[in-house]
Formats: sequence, C-alpha cells, structure tokens
Amino acid sequence: MTYARFDTSWIETGLIKRKSNYSPVVCFETGDPARLLQLKHYLLRHPDYGKADSIFVYDEWEGLGRLGLRGEEIVTTPYRKEAGSSVLSRKLGEDATRLATLKAALKEVDKPLKTSRSVFIIQNISDNREHETGLRAALKSWAIDPLVIANGSTVFIVTPAVERILDDFTRELSVVITVDPSSREERQRLVESVARELEVPLAEEQVTELVIATAGLNLHQLESILLETYYTEKAFDIGRIKALKSELVKKSGVLEVTDPRSSFADIGGYEVIKDFVRRYIINVLSRPDRARRIGVPLPRGLLLFGPPGTGKSLFANALASEINLPFIHLVTENIYSKWLGESGHRMRDALRLVDKMSPAVVFIDEIDRFGKRGRVGDSAGEETSRVFSQFLEWLGRPERESIIVGTTNVPSLLDEAFLRAGRLDYKIPFL
Ligand SMILES: Nc1ncnc2c1ncn2[C@@H]1O[C@H](COP(=O)(O)OP(=O)(O)OP(=O)(O)O)[C@@H](O)[C@H]1O
Ligand SMILES: [Mg+2]
Repeated sequence: MTYARFDTSWIETGLIKRKSNYSPVVCFETGDPARLLQLKHYLLRHPDYGKADSIFVYDEWEGLGRLGLRGEEIVTTPYRKEAGSSVLSRKLGEDATRLATLKAALKEVDKPLKTSRSVFIIQNISDNREHETGLRAALKSWAIDPLVIANGSTVFIVTPAVERILDDFTRELSVVITVDPSSREERQRLVESVARELEVPLAEEQVTELVIATAGLNLHQLESILLETYYTEKAFDIGRIKALKSELVKKSGVLEVTDPRSSFADIGGYEVIKDFVRRYIINVLSRPDRARRIGVPLPRGLLLFGPPGTGKSLFANALASEINLPFIHLVTENIYSKWLGESGHRMRDALRLVDKMSPAVVFIDEIDRFGKRGRVGDSAGEETSRVFSQFLEWLGRPERESIIVGTTNVPSLLDEAFLRAGRLDYKIPFL
C-alpha cells in the first residue's frame, strides 16, 4: 500500500514553518507508521529536501542510517563512519550494538547539520532513556543553533507524544504539528483501494458505513483491521470491524467503545425521565438544524445522580441507543495511573480520540472521581489538578461534538465547575 497520495497538508504546514525560520526542529505528533512513510516519500521527492546533502534516519532499533530512493522504493542504508571502521547501525555485529546508541548517532549528525544542508529524521524512539542519550540536550541546542538554521538543515521527530521527548522549553523552540489519525476522505480512499486490491465488491453505502464506523483509527490501524477481517471472513463484515476497533481503542487503557446494548424499552419505570430526555435531548439532537433555528441550545452533557443500583449506567447506555450514536466509556479509574506524569498524556490522548470518534455518547461513571479543584495535601496533587483542568477545558469547548453522560452517587463531591453551562447542563435524579 502506498500512502503517497494521502493528505499531506500536515507535512506542508511543517515545512512552511521551517522555511519561515520558525525553528529547524519540526515534530510531527503521530504514532502511525503510515504517516512516517508518507513523510519519507514526500521529503525524498521534494525539490529541496530530496536534494539535501544527506538525509539521516535514526531509529532506536535500527540505529543510524541514510535514507534514499531506489526506484520507487525507500531504502535505508546503515551508516558507516567514513574515517574509521565504527558502525552505528545495530544490524552489523556486536561492536555495532555497543555503538549504536542514540548518543553516538547524535554526535555523528551534529556536524553535517551545522556545515551542510542535511535532514535528520528521528523515529521510533522511546522516552525513558534520556539520562543516557542526551537527546533533549541535542534537540534544544539544534533548535536555536544559527548554523543549523543558516544551512537550511532540518531535524524531524516523529513520535506519538511530543512532550515525552521534549521538555516544555524545547517544545516552545520547536515546531509541533499534531497529525490527524485519518480524515474521512483518506479512510474512504483506503477502504476503496484495499477492496480493489482484494477484489472485494463494495456498494457505495457499505463504503460510507465503513468510513463512519472506523473514525478515530489511523491509516495503519484501518488497513490492518480491513485485512484481518478479510482473512477471517473473506468480506468486510461491519460487526467484526467494529469489534476490532473496540479492541484497539481499549488498548489505550482509558476508553472502551461499544454499540449500545439496551434501549428505553429495557428500562422499567422512570417514565417522567424518559419523556423529558426524549423531548429535550433526543428530539433536539435528531434535528439539530431546527433546534439552532429556533434558538434551542444543543444538549452537551447530563449528570445522572442517585444511589447505587438505580439504573444510571443502564440509562446512559439506552440513551446512546435511542439517539443512535456509539457509546464510549471513559474509564476513569485508569486515568490517574500510578506512573507519575502519565495521566496527563493518557487523558489528552483519550480526549483526542473521543473527538475523532464523535458524535458519540461519552459515558463517565463516577465522574466525581475527578475530585475538586484546589484540594491540597496529596502527593499527586499537581498531576491531578492538571488532568482536572484539561478535562474541564475539553468539556467546555464549544466545538465538542460528543454528549457527555456522567454519573455519581455523591453529587456533593462534584466540583461545581462541571455543572456550568455547556458542560453538564442537565441534572437528572435517579431515586
Ligand atoms: N429501571 C430499571 N429497569 C431495568 N433494570 C434496572 C433498572 N434499574 C436498575 N436495573 C438493573 O439493575 C442493575 C444495576 O443498575 P445500574 O448498574 O444501571 O445502576 P447504577 O445506578 O449505575 O448503579 P451504580 O451507582 O452502583 O453504578 C443492572 O443490572 C440494571 O440492569
Ligand atoms: Mg453505574
């Protein structure tokens, strides 16, 4: 599969910023191997970048190499030090393994970056090795190095989470571009081209259904899911595709996606609440244009409160089915992970993914777990309050397309900021 024809606006944005001398360090935030390939294809065929004196690639597994084209194919040649016999690629023997540290590679490319027009692509690196590699220090110094800038050299970093690689200061000195996992058009193109390759006949409605159901997946994930479904079912079964997507999303540790299982018919009683929700929520959401015209605000969040076992979770699920949207469970017990500094990333990644999969109903059980602002005394205090404000900010964003359904047994534990307009507008008692 070639991704060369997919959307390249993210690359162009980065290159324009580089050209404007904003910074010679350009980070593309993506974990998608397809995007990395796309970048390499693009650079190698670019009138300036393709003719750079050297294009280096560092990969934690492969070590240092040089990038080039052989015909249509991208090739990475292991790097050999010209003068000596040392090799900086892991593929080549024991000595290589010892030398193929990022540290040595950084030292090696430092000179070409400063004395010629060079490109350095850093890919597949983990974030936990800073103490031995000096990556941050190198990036920080290149970001402001007048020689690197004047020679037109560029360092590209491709990583799923920039803040795990760069500290705040270096991030400010760099260009950071967040790459969309996939646009609707890209998914459509990919679905059609995989179907063509496998000779699976697909009607137009089936393509549309697949494209909608796979929102939030990146190109690599989408292709893998299509192939897996084909190899097991010899067709693109939508149910199977949804199941594989839930599996992938679940791996993030914070989200679970399902098709809603129950409907209002499965809920005994609560007729008043059902009526209310039908009138003010379901009706409005099913005809958003009409609502806008007559000035009714779109519902954006509900808080269901009441004692345990009163059907709040059941109701949230049924609501998703009544409005015919996917049901995403934001698993709060996984948010404050025990790894210091991790929960902020997790939360941010999860909320981004939710946005990509929206419109959807987002279920947050025990939303009071987020706690209140300004509660002092616990050691994780700073992290907690960062996650908290991140979440609040997201809740209040006018462009958010998801409907939040939070539940709590103890509404008094909830920070009142949750209840402001545009966040959890409706408070519904379950007794
Ligand atoms: N009105 C109802 N009609 C049908 N089943 C119900 C109803 N209320 C509760 N149940 C059933 O009771 C069980 C508990 O309900 P549920 O998990 O929705 O409660 P909850 O309010 O979310 O509780 P908790 O606060 O402990 O999370 C579920 O199996 C649910 O199907
Ligand atoms: Mg519940």
